[in-house]
Amino acid sequence: MGFSTWVLLILNILMFAALPIFSDSSLSSNQLPEIPKEFLKFAKKAEVFDWMVRIRRKIHENPELGYQEFETSKLIRDELDRLGIQYKYPVAVTGVVGYIGSGEPPFVALRADMDALPIQEMVEWEHKSKIPGKMHACGHDAHVTMLLGAAKILQEHREAIKGTVVLVFQPAEEGGAGAKQVINAGILENVKAIFGLHVAPDLPVSKVYSRPGPIMAGSGFFEAVISGKGGHAAIPQHSIDPILAASNVVVSLQHLISRETDPLDSQVVTIAKFKGGDAFNVIPDSVVIGGTLRTFSKESLMQLKQRIKEVIIGQAAVHRCTATVNFLESEKPFYPPTVNDKGLHQYFQNVAADMIDISSVKEMQPMMGAEDFSFYQEEIPGYYYNLGMKNETKGNLAYLHSPHFQINEDAFPFGAALQASLAARYILENQPESTPLKGEHRDEL
Ligand SMILES: *[C@@H]1O[C@H](CO)[C@@H](O)[C@H](O)[C@H]1NC(C)=O
Repeated sequence: MGFSTWVLLILNILMFAALPIFSDSSLSSNQLPEIPKEFLKFAKKAEVFDWMVRIRRKIHENPELGYQEFETSKLIRDELDRLGIQYKYPVAVTGVVGYIGSGEPPFVALRADMDALPIQEMVEWEHKSKIPGKMHACGHDAHVTMLLGAAKILQEHREAIKGTVVLVFQPAEEGGAGAKQVINAGILENVKAIFGLHVAPDLPVSKVYSRPGPIMAGSGFFEAVISGKGGHAAIPQHSIDPILAASNVVVSLQHLISRETDPLDSQVVTIAKFKGGDAFNVIPDSVVIGGTLRTFSKESLMQLKQRIKEVIIGQAAVHRCTATVNFLESEKPFYPPTVNDKGLHQYFQNVAADMIDISSVKEMQPMMGAEDFSFYQEEIPGYYYNLGMKNETKGNLAYLHSPHFQINEDAFPFGAALQASLAARYILENQPESTPLKGEHRDEL
Protein backbone atom coordinates (compact mmCIF):
# COMPACT_ATOMS: atom_id res chain seq x y z
CA MET A 1 0.00 0.00 0.00
CA GLY A 2 1.34 3.46 -0.91
CA PHE A 3 1.89 5.91 1.88
CA SER A 4 -0.67 8.44 0.65
CA THR A 5 -3.21 5.63 0.68
CA TRP A 6 -2.14 4.87 4.21
CA VAL A 7 -2.56 8.50 5.27
CA LEU A 8 -6.01 8.57 3.71
CA LEU A 9 -6.94 5.43 5.56
CA ILE A 10 -5.78 6.89 8.86
CA LEU A 11 -7.58 10.14 8.11
CA ASN A 12 -10.77 8.26 7.30
CA ILE A 13 -10.59 6.37 10.51
CA LEU A 14 -9.74 9.43 12.58
CA MET A 15 -12.30 11.72 11.05
CA PHE A 16 -15.20 9.55 10.03
CA ALA A 17 -15.16 6.54 12.24
CA ALA A 18 -14.05 8.76 15.14
CA LEU A 19 -12.54 5.73 16.79
CA PRO A 20 -9.41 5.84 18.89
CA ILE A 21 -6.67 4.29 16.78
CA PHE A 22 -6.13 1.43 19.14
CA SER A 23 -9.66 0.17 19.33
CA ASP A 24 -9.10 -1.10 15.79
CA SER A 25 -6.67 -3.92 16.28
CA SER A 26 -6.21 -4.58 12.56
CA LEU A 27 -4.93 -1.04 12.13
CA SER A 28 -2.49 -1.30 15.00
CA SER A 29 -1.08 -4.58 13.84
CA ASN A 30 -1.05 -3.95 10.09
CA GLN A 31 -0.64 -0.26 9.39
CA LEU A 32 1.70 1.07 12.07
CA PRO A 33 4.64 -1.15 11.06
CA GLU A 34 4.60 0.44 7.60
CA ILE A 35 5.39 3.94 8.89
CA PRO A 36 9.18 3.57 9.31
CA LYS A 37 9.73 2.04 5.85
CA GLU A 38 7.51 4.64 4.19
CA PHE A 39 9.33 7.45 6.01
CA LEU A 40 12.69 6.00 4.95
CA LYS A 41 11.56 5.83 1.34
CA PHE A 42 10.53 9.49 1.57
CA ALA A 43 13.84 10.53 3.18
CA LYS A 44 15.81 8.70 0.47
CA LYS A 45 14.10 10.59 -2.35
CA ALA A 46 16.73 12.56 -4.25
CA GLU A 47 15.14 15.94 -3.55
CA VAL A 48 14.88 15.28 0.20
CA PHE A 49 18.35 13.75 0.48
CA ASP A 50 20.01 16.53 -1.56
CA TRP A 51 18.21 19.16 0.53
CA MET A 52 19.59 17.58 3.73
CA VAL A 53 23.11 17.43 2.28
CA ARG A 54 22.96 21.12 1.31
CA ILE A 55 21.82 22.12 4.80
CA ARG A 56 24.50 20.06 6.50
CA ARG A 57 27.31 21.46 4.36
CA LYS A 58 26.16 25.01 4.98
CA ILE A 59 26.17 24.42 8.75
CA HIS A 60 29.52 22.65 8.51
CA GLU A 61 31.12 25.66 6.79
CA ASN A 62 30.07 27.99 9.60
CA PRO A 63 30.58 26.20 12.94
CA GLU A 64 29.57 28.08 16.09
CA LEU A 65 30.43 27.27 19.71
CA GLY A 66 27.92 26.76 22.54
CA TYR A 67 25.38 29.59 23.08
CA GLN A 68 26.81 31.36 20.00
CA GLU A 69 24.89 29.33 17.39
CA PHE A 70 23.21 32.45 15.96
CA GLU A 71 23.64 31.69 12.24
CA THR A 72 22.82 28.00 12.76
CA SER A 73 19.69 29.05 14.63
CA LYS A 74 18.75 31.46 11.82
CA LEU A 75 19.21 28.72 9.23
CA ILE A 76 16.98 26.37 11.26
CA ARG A 77 14.25 29.03 11.57
CA ASP A 78 14.41 29.81 7.85
CA GLU A 79 13.91 26.13 7.02
CA LEU A 80 11.07 25.78 9.54
CA ASP A 81 9.44 28.88 7.99
CA ARG A 82 9.71 27.30 4.54
CA LEU A 83 8.18 24.09 5.86
CA GLY A 84 5.35 26.05 7.52
CA ILE A 85 6.30 24.81 11.00
CA GLN A 86 5.66 27.06 14.01
CA TYR A 87 8.38 27.50 16.57
CA LYS A 88 9.48 29.25 19.75
CA TYR A 89 12.63 31.37 19.68
CA PRO A 90 14.85 32.14 21.46
CA VAL A 91 14.96 29.23 23.88
CA ALA A 92 18.17 29.04 25.96
CA VAL A 93 19.81 31.91 24.00
CA THR A 94 20.04 30.39 20.49
CA GLY A 95 17.73 27.37 20.72
CA VAL A 96 14.66 26.86 18.55
CA VAL A 97 11.68 24.66 19.49
CA GLY A 98 9.28 23.69 16.69
CA TYR A 99 5.81 22.15 16.92
CA ILE A 100 4.17 19.80 14.40
CA GLY A 101 0.69 18.35 14.69
CA SER A 102 -2.56 19.17 16.44
CA GLY A 103 -1.10 21.18 19.34
CA GLU A 104 -2.84 18.67 21.61
CA PRO A 105 -1.47 15.77 23.67
CA PRO A 106 0.23 13.42 23.46
CA PHE A 107 3.44 15.44 23.16
CA VAL A 108 6.67 13.72 22.17
CA ALA A 109 10.04 15.44 21.67
CA LEU A 110 12.97 14.93 19.29
CA ARG A 111 16.25 16.63 20.13
CA ALA A 112 19.31 17.75 18.14
CA ASP A 113 22.35 19.58 19.52
CA MET A 114 23.69 22.54 17.50
CA ASP A 115 27.15 23.52 18.73
CA ALA A 116 30.61 23.00 17.26
CA LEU A 117 34.03 22.52 18.89
CA PRO A 118 37.14 24.70 19.25
CA ILE A 119 39.13 22.49 16.85
CA GLN A 120 40.90 23.46 13.61
CA GLU A 121 39.53 21.30 10.78
CA MET A 122 42.26 19.30 9.02
CA VAL A 123 40.05 17.76 6.32
CA GLU A 124 40.63 19.39 2.94
CA TRP A 125 37.33 19.45 1.07
CA GLU A 126 35.00 21.88 -0.64
CA HIS A 127 32.90 22.56 2.45
CA LYS A 128 35.68 22.75 5.02
CA SER A 129 35.03 25.01 8.04
CA LYS A 130 35.51 28.65 7.07
CA ILE A 131 36.09 29.65 10.70
CA PRO A 132 39.68 29.21 11.89
CA GLY A 133 39.89 27.11 15.04
CA LYS A 134 36.25 25.99 14.99
CA MET A 135 34.81 22.80 13.56
CA HIS A 136 31.80 20.51 13.63
CA ALA A 137 33.92 17.60 14.81
CA CYS A 138 31.16 15.88 16.78
CA GLY A 139 28.54 15.67 14.04
CA HIS A 140 26.09 18.17 15.47
CA ASP A 141 25.75 19.62 11.95
CA ALA A 142 24.43 16.19 10.94
CA HIS A 143 22.16 16.01 14.01
CA VAL A 144 20.53 19.37 13.17
CA THR A 145 20.16 18.29 9.54
CA MET A 146 18.49 15.01 10.42
CA LEU A 147 16.08 16.73 12.80
CA LEU A 148 15.12 19.11 9.98
CA GLY A 149 14.76 16.00 7.79
CA ALA A 150 12.46 14.44 10.38
CA ALA A 151 10.53 17.72 10.54
CA LYS A 152 10.04 17.67 6.77
CA ILE A 153 8.77 14.08 6.86
CA LEU A 154 6.41 14.76 9.76
CA GLN A 155 5.10 17.99 8.31
CA GLU A 156 4.40 16.19 5.03
CA HIS A 157 2.23 13.74 6.99
CA ARG A 158 0.95 16.14 9.62
CA GLU A 159 -2.74 15.30 9.15
CA ALA A 160 -2.07 11.83 10.51
CA ILE A 161 -0.40 13.20 13.65
CA LYS A 162 -3.08 13.23 16.32
CA GLY A 163 -0.83 14.83 18.88
CA THR A 164 2.22 17.08 18.84
CA VAL A 165 5.86 16.52 17.96
CA VAL A 166 8.18 18.96 19.74
CA LEU A 167 11.41 19.62 17.78
CA VAL A 168 14.17 20.65 20.17
CA PHE A 169 17.15 22.36 18.49
CA GLN A 170 19.37 22.70 21.54
CA PRO A 171 22.49 24.85 22.02
CA ALA A 172 25.67 24.07 23.91
CA GLU A 173 25.88 20.30 24.34
CA GLU A 174 29.70 20.37 24.51
CA GLY A 175 30.12 21.18 28.19
CA GLY A 176 27.62 24.04 28.37
CA ALA A 177 24.64 21.93 29.54
CA GLY A 178 22.31 23.53 27.01
CA ALA A 179 19.76 20.81 27.79
CA LYS A 180 19.44 22.16 31.32
CA GLN A 181 18.59 25.64 29.99
CA VAL A 182 16.03 24.16 27.58
CA ILE A 183 14.37 22.38 30.52
CA ASN A 184 14.43 25.58 32.58
CA ALA A 185 12.60 27.30 29.71
CA GLY A 186 9.68 24.90 30.35
CA ILE A 187 9.93 23.11 27.02
CA LEU A 188 9.34 19.62 28.47
CA GLU A 189 6.02 20.54 30.05
CA ASN A 190 3.45 17.85 29.08
CA VAL A 191 6.08 16.01 27.00
CA LYS A 192 5.79 12.26 27.61
CA ALA A 193 9.02 11.02 25.97
CA ILE A 194 12.11 12.35 24.21
CA PHE A 195 14.43 10.76 21.62
CA GLY A 196 17.95 11.75 20.64
CA LEU A 197 20.64 10.25 18.43
CA HIS A 198 24.36 10.53 17.79
CA VAL A 199 26.28 9.67 14.65
CA ALA A 200 28.79 6.84 15.17
CA PRO A 201 31.83 6.80 12.83
CA ASP A 202 32.91 3.29 13.85
CA LEU A 203 29.54 1.57 13.32
CA PRO A 204 28.11 0.57 9.92
CA VAL A 205 25.67 2.78 8.05
CA SER A 206 22.03 1.59 7.97
CA LYS A 207 22.40 0.06 11.44
CA VAL A 208 21.54 1.49 14.86
CA TYR A 209 23.08 0.77 18.26
CA SER A 210 21.78 1.26 21.74
CA ARG A 211 20.97 -0.39 25.04
CA PRO A 212 18.53 -0.09 27.95
CA GLY A 213 19.80 1.53 31.17
CA PRO A 214 23.07 3.50 31.40
CA ILE A 215 24.58 4.13 27.97
CA MET A 216 26.90 7.09 28.58
CA ALA A 217 28.66 8.16 31.75
CA GLY A 218 27.99 11.04 34.10
CA SER A 219 30.92 13.44 34.13
CA GLY A 220 32.58 16.29 35.92
CA PHE A 221 35.82 18.23 35.74
CA PHE A 222 38.28 19.43 38.33
CA GLU A 223 41.35 21.60 38.64
CA ALA A 224 43.70 21.77 41.62
CA VAL A 225 46.50 24.13 42.56
CA ILE A 226 49.18 22.44 44.67
CA SER A 227 51.40 25.00 46.34
CA GLY A 228 54.81 24.54 47.98
CA LYS A 229 57.81 26.83 48.07
CA GLY A 230 60.05 27.42 45.08
CA GLY A 231 63.83 27.40 45.19
CA HIS A 232 67.09 26.16 43.69
CA ALA A 233 66.85 22.65 42.29
CA ALA A 234 70.25 21.78 43.78
CA ILE A 235 69.19 22.66 47.35
CA PRO A 236 65.83 20.84 47.72
CA GLN A 237 65.93 21.04 51.53
CA HIS A 238 65.24 24.78 51.26
CA SER A 239 62.16 24.27 49.08
CA ILE A 240 58.81 22.53 49.37
CA ASP A 241 58.55 20.68 46.08
CA PRO A 242 55.04 20.82 44.55
CA ILE A 243 56.14 18.73 41.53
CA LEU A 244 56.76 15.67 43.70
CA ALA A 245 53.59 16.35 45.69
CA ALA A 246 51.50 16.65 42.51
CA SER A 247 53.09 13.49 41.11
CA ASN A 248 52.01 11.57 44.19
CA VAL A 249 48.55 13.12 43.96
CA VAL A 250 48.20 11.78 40.42
CA VAL A 251 49.24 8.28 41.49
CA SER A 252 46.99 8.30 44.55
CA LEU A 253 44.00 9.42 42.49
CA GLN A 254 44.31 6.26 40.38
CA HIS A 255 44.08 4.18 43.57
CA LEU A 256 40.53 5.53 43.99
CA ILE A 257 39.62 3.50 40.92
CA SER A 258 41.76 0.42 41.60
CA ARG A 259 41.12 0.12 45.37
CA GLU A 260 37.96 1.98 46.40
CA THR A 261 35.66 1.31 43.46
CA ASP A 262 33.58 -1.80 42.81
CA PRO A 263 35.35 -3.35 39.80
CA LEU A 264 31.91 -3.97 38.27
CA ASP A 265 30.91 -0.30 38.60
CA SER A 266 32.98 1.28 35.82
CA GLN A 267 34.58 4.61 36.68
CA VAL A 268 37.33 6.79 35.26
CA VAL A 269 39.62 9.45 36.70
CA THR A 270 41.96 11.04 34.17
CA ILE A 271 44.48 13.76 34.88
CA ALA A 272 44.79 15.49 31.52
CA LYS A 273 46.56 18.63 32.66
CA PHE A 274 49.81 18.93 34.64
CA LYS A 275 51.55 22.29 34.61
CA GLY A 276 54.43 23.51 36.75
CA GLY A 277 57.88 24.95 36.38
CA ASP A 278 59.78 26.11 33.31
CA ALA A 279 63.46 25.86 34.16
CA PHE A 280 65.80 22.88 34.54
CA ASN A 281 67.15 24.02 37.87
CA VAL A 282 64.29 25.81 39.63
CA ILE A 283 61.69 24.15 41.83
CA PRO A 284 58.44 26.05 41.12
CA ASP A 285 56.13 27.52 43.75
CA SER A 286 53.10 25.61 42.51
CA VAL A 287 51.69 23.07 40.10
CA VAL A 288 48.27 23.05 38.45
CA ILE A 289 46.65 19.73 37.63
CA GLY A 290 43.29 19.11 36.06
CA GLY A 291 41.15 16.31 34.76
CA THR A 292 37.82 14.59 34.55
CA LEU A 293 35.80 12.00 36.47
CA ARG A 294 33.25 9.60 34.93
CA THR A 295 30.78 7.14 36.44
CA PHE A 296 27.51 5.41 35.52
CA SER A 297 25.49 6.58 38.52
CA LYS A 298 24.98 9.91 40.16
CA GLU A 299 25.79 8.43 43.60
CA SER A 300 29.15 7.11 42.35
CA LEU A 301 29.85 10.47 40.76
CA MET A 302 29.25 12.38 44.02
CA GLN A 303 31.27 9.84 46.02
CA LEU A 304 34.20 10.04 43.59
CA LYS A 305 34.05 13.84 43.59
CA GLN A 306 34.30 13.88 47.39
CA ARG A 307 37.24 11.46 47.44
CA ILE A 308 39.14 13.31 44.69
CA LYS A 309 39.06 16.44 46.82
CA GLU A 310 40.16 14.58 49.96
CA VAL A 311 43.01 12.76 48.21
CA ILE A 312 44.39 15.88 46.55
CA ILE A 313 44.40 17.89 49.78
CA GLY A 314 45.60 14.96 51.92
CA GLN A 315 48.35 13.82 49.59
CA ALA A 316 49.57 17.40 49.12
CA ALA A 317 49.75 17.72 52.92
CA VAL A 318 51.95 14.58 53.13
CA HIS A 319 54.47 16.59 51.13
CA ARG A 320 53.99 19.76 53.23
CA CYS A 321 52.08 21.42 50.36
CA THR A 322 48.66 23.03 50.41
CA ALA A 323 46.04 22.42 47.76
CA THR A 324 42.82 24.00 46.52
CA VAL A 325 40.38 21.99 44.42
CA ASN A 326 37.85 23.53 42.06
CA PHE A 327 35.17 21.50 40.27
CA LEU A 328 34.43 24.39 37.86
CA GLU A 329 30.71 23.74 38.11
CA SER A 330 29.57 27.15 36.92
CA GLU A 331 31.39 26.86 33.57
CA LYS A 332 31.34 23.07 33.23
CA PRO A 333 28.33 21.65 35.07
CA PHE A 334 28.39 18.00 36.12
CA TYR A 335 26.44 15.90 33.59
CA PRO A 336 24.36 13.06 35.00
CA PRO A 337 24.73 9.62 33.36
CA THR A 338 22.65 9.04 30.22
CA VAL A 339 20.18 6.31 31.22
CA ASN A 340 17.79 4.86 28.65
CA ASP A 341 14.26 4.10 29.76
CA LYS A 342 13.64 0.34 29.61
CA GLY A 343 10.13 0.63 28.16
CA LEU A 344 11.36 2.96 25.43
CA HIS A 345 14.12 0.47 24.61
CA GLN A 346 11.52 -2.13 23.68
CA TYR A 347 9.60 0.51 21.74
CA PHE A 348 12.74 1.68 19.92
CA GLN A 349 13.64 -1.87 18.91
CA ASN A 350 10.16 -2.43 17.48
CA VAL A 351 10.16 0.78 15.44
CA ALA A 352 13.76 0.44 14.22
CA ALA A 353 13.20 -3.20 13.31
CA ASP A 354 10.25 -2.17 11.14
CA MET A 355 12.56 0.21 9.26
CA ILE A 356 15.82 -1.69 8.84
CA ASP A 357 14.96 -5.18 10.21
CA ILE A 358 15.87 -6.51 13.61
CA SER A 359 19.33 -7.81 12.64
CA SER A 360 20.38 -4.17 12.07
CA VAL A 361 19.24 -3.07 15.53
CA LYS A 362 22.25 -3.83 17.73
CA GLU A 363 22.88 -3.75 21.44
CA MET A 364 26.02 -1.78 22.31
CA GLN A 365 28.37 -1.49 25.26
CA PRO A 366 28.01 1.63 27.39
CA MET A 367 30.64 4.33 26.82
CA MET A 368 32.45 6.59 29.29
CA GLY A 369 31.76 9.68 27.14
CA ALA A 370 29.13 12.07 28.50
CA GLU A 371 26.09 13.68 26.91
CA ASP A 372 23.75 16.36 28.23
CA PHE A 373 20.72 14.45 26.86
CA SER A 374 20.90 12.98 30.37
CA PHE A 375 19.29 16.13 31.81
CA TYR A 376 16.10 15.43 29.84
CA GLN A 377 16.12 11.84 31.08
CA GLU A 378 16.17 13.08 34.66
CA GLU A 379 12.80 14.76 33.95
CA ILE A 380 10.98 12.39 31.58
CA PRO A 381 11.57 8.98 29.95
CA GLY A 382 14.17 9.47 27.25
CA TYR A 383 15.98 7.33 24.73
CA TYR A 384 19.36 7.91 23.15
CA TYR A 385 20.90 5.81 20.38
CA ASN A 386 23.79 5.69 17.94
CA LEU A 387 23.36 5.87 14.20
CA GLY A 388 25.96 3.98 12.14
CA MET A 389 27.95 5.98 9.57
CA LYS A 390 30.77 3.69 8.52
CA ASN A 391 30.96 2.35 4.96
CA GLU A 392 33.91 -0.04 4.46
CA THR A 393 34.11 0.67 0.74
CA LYS A 394 34.56 4.38 1.45
CA GLY A 395 37.24 3.76 4.09
CA ASN A 396 37.47 4.40 7.83
CA LEU A 397 36.18 7.56 9.48
CA ALA A 398 38.11 9.44 12.15
CA TYR A 399 36.60 9.37 15.63
CA LEU A 400 34.53 12.10 17.30
CA HIS A 401 36.42 15.31 18.28
CA SER A 402 39.21 14.56 15.80
CA PRO A 403 40.33 17.38 13.45
CA HIS A 404 40.00 14.71 10.73
CA PHE A 405 36.37 13.92 11.61
CA GLN A 406 34.06 13.39 8.62
CA ILE A 407 30.38 12.63 8.15
CA ASN A 408 29.01 9.94 5.86
CA GLU A 409 25.95 11.76 4.57
CA ASP A 410 24.42 8.43 3.43
CA ALA A 411 23.32 8.00 7.06
CA PHE A 412 20.94 11.00 6.89
CA PRO A 413 17.84 9.25 5.52
CA PHE A 414 18.10 6.60 8.26
CA GLY A 415 18.44 9.13 11.07
CA ALA A 416 15.73 11.46 9.76
CA ALA A 417 13.25 8.66 9.08
CA LEU A 418 13.88 6.87 12.36
CA GLN A 419 13.46 10.02 14.44
CA ALA A 420 10.25 10.87 12.55
CA SER A 421 8.96 7.30 12.96
CA LEU A 422 9.72 7.21 16.69
CA ALA A 423 7.67 10.38 17.17
CA ALA A 424 4.78 9.52 14.82
CA ARG A 425 4.29 6.01 16.13
CA TYR A 426 4.64 7.10 19.73
CA ILE A 427 1.73 9.47 19.20
CA LEU A 428 -0.41 6.86 17.41
CA GLU A 429 0.33 4.23 20.04
CA ASN A 430 -0.30 6.55 22.98
CA GLN A 431 -3.64 8.11 22.12
CA PRO A 432 -5.64 9.04 25.22
CA GLU A 433 -8.19 6.35 26.12
CA SER A 434 -11.68 7.19 25.03
CA THR A 435 -13.14 8.14 28.40
CA PRO A 436 -16.23 10.05 29.54
CA LEU A 437 -13.97 13.11 29.55
CA LYS A 438 -13.82 12.94 25.78
CA GLY A 439 -17.62 12.90 25.63
CA GLU A 440 -17.82 15.95 27.88
CA HIS A 441 -15.28 17.65 25.70
CA ARG A 442 -17.38 17.01 22.64
CA ASP A 443 -20.50 18.36 24.32
CA GLU A 444 -18.70 21.62 24.93
CA LEU A 445 -18.06 21.86 21.22
C1 LIG B 1 28.84 2.29 0.53
O1 LIG B 1 29.59 2.96 -0.48
C2 LIG B 1 29.44 2.42 -1.77
C3 LIG B 1 30.41 3.15 -2.67
O2 LIG B 1 30.22 4.53 -2.61
C4 LIG B 1 27.99 2.53 -2.21
O3 LIG B 1 27.82 1.97 -3.49
C5 LIG B 1 27.10 1.81 -1.19
O4 LIG B 1 25.74 1.98 -1.53
C6 LIG B 1 27.36 2.36 0.20
N1 LIG B 1 26.60 1.57 1.17
C7 LIG B 1 25.66 2.10 1.97
C8 LIG B 1 24.97 1.15 2.87
O5 LIG B 1 25.38 3.29 1.98
